[in-house]
Amino acid sequence: MITLGVDLGDRSYPIYIGESLLDQGELIRQHIPGNSALVVCNTTVAPLYLDKVEQALGGLKHESVILPDGEEHKNLTVLNTIYDALLQHRFDRNTTIIALGGGVVGDMAGFAAASYQRGVHLIQIPTTLLSQVDSSVGGKTGVNHALGKNMIGAFYQPRAVLADTTTLNTLPDRELSAGLAEIIKYGLIKKPDFFDWLQTNMNALLQRDTDALAKAIEVSCQTKAEVVAADERESGQRALLNLGHTFGHAIETGMGYGEWLHGEAVGAGMCMAARMSQQLGWIDDNAVAQTVALIEQAKLPTMAPASMTVEQFMQLMAVDKKVLDGVLRLVLLKAIGHAVVTNDYTQQQLEQAVAVSLPT
Ligand code: NAD
Ligand code: GLY
Repeated sequence: MITLGVDLGDRSYPIYIGESLLDQGELIRQHIPGNSALVVCNTTVAPLYLDKVEQALGGLKHESVILPDGEEHKNLTVLNTIYDALLQHRFDRNTTIIALGGGVVGDMAGFAAASYQRGVHLIQIPTTLLSQVDSSVGGKTGVNHALGKNMIGAFYQPRAVLADTTTLNTLPDRELSAGLAEIIKYGLIKKPDFFDWLQTNMNALLQRDTDALAKAIEVSCQTKAEVVAADERESGQRALLNLGHTFGHAIETGMGYGEWLHGEAVGAGMCMAARMSQQLGWIDDNAVAQTVALIEQAKLPTMAPASMTVEQFMQLMAVDKKVLDGVLRLVLLKAIGHAVVTNDYTQQQLEQAVAVSLPT
């Protein structure tokens, strides 16, 4: 087992990464301060792993709530069913909510923990590659609104993250690729050596080579932990973690939540960001080609959906969380391994960048 840390003073917490962690009950129990826990899960993950977590909880008072599966259920209506369960079972302020599942469950359970009785304890047990390398770490929680992705939420850190890599054995290939998008993101924004390593090891990752996956998860969590420790509430460098996300969120909302996976939208979005960086003269053709090739090798889309239009992108991107005082800041590339947050572009250049990524 590898243990990393997110350094946030008295709110610091460990990230455990390793095989069969769910079989080590004490690992979970030591992070539960009170005598009760609510496990939040979904209809796909519950039959696979809920028993193991309930066993790990031993004699603690515990209940579970099982959400419908899918990004289209990441909303306030479904969130309310978590509050219903908490209240029906009279869970108090010393309760721990355990998020068991992918990023959708993690973001929703996290927001429930942030808001129930103004905040109860939270443990993240991510079971997708994407959630193990990104969403379970760093404390972003929330739900979607019909008009914008992740528009309602809170920063709320867990007490611990347990990434049991054995759970990845049951993950569908398409979801594995979605997770690879966020892994590639870390290479592109600030780890050029890791980008090179991914170019060499992408096939091993797709074949679920244990050592390759362990390394990719470790470097990703380490990178995210560094960024979050430096800028927890995204007043600066944390925005870099949104490379490809402004374009990607527009795709997710525009296509209807759940149609494109989050990681797929981010994959295409990173290609769009690379093309725009090249049009602005910041990176050369070779850097774009390498970016697109790696994303393609990960079996992710590299173009925007054919059914969307430039106008639709413009409307949807106007409600991005990186709009400040009416100005949209984008994360773009100065080199592979060097991303910047910028508003140094014209509307026409943005429209042109979207246009070249729409299939003709
Ligand atoms: P997801 O939660 O929808 O999970 C993907 C699918 O895999 C679901 O069908 C799920 O039931 C299933 N699944 C989960 N674990 C499994 C397992 N071990 N075996 C088999 N099936 C399993 O999607 P995701 O990609 O994990 O997360 C995407 C979400 O995360 C998006 O809503 C995105 O906005 C959010 N996100 C949040 C952050 C953050 O910082 N909070 C960062 C990135 C993404
Ligand atoms: N996934 C973006 C962030 O955590 O900031």
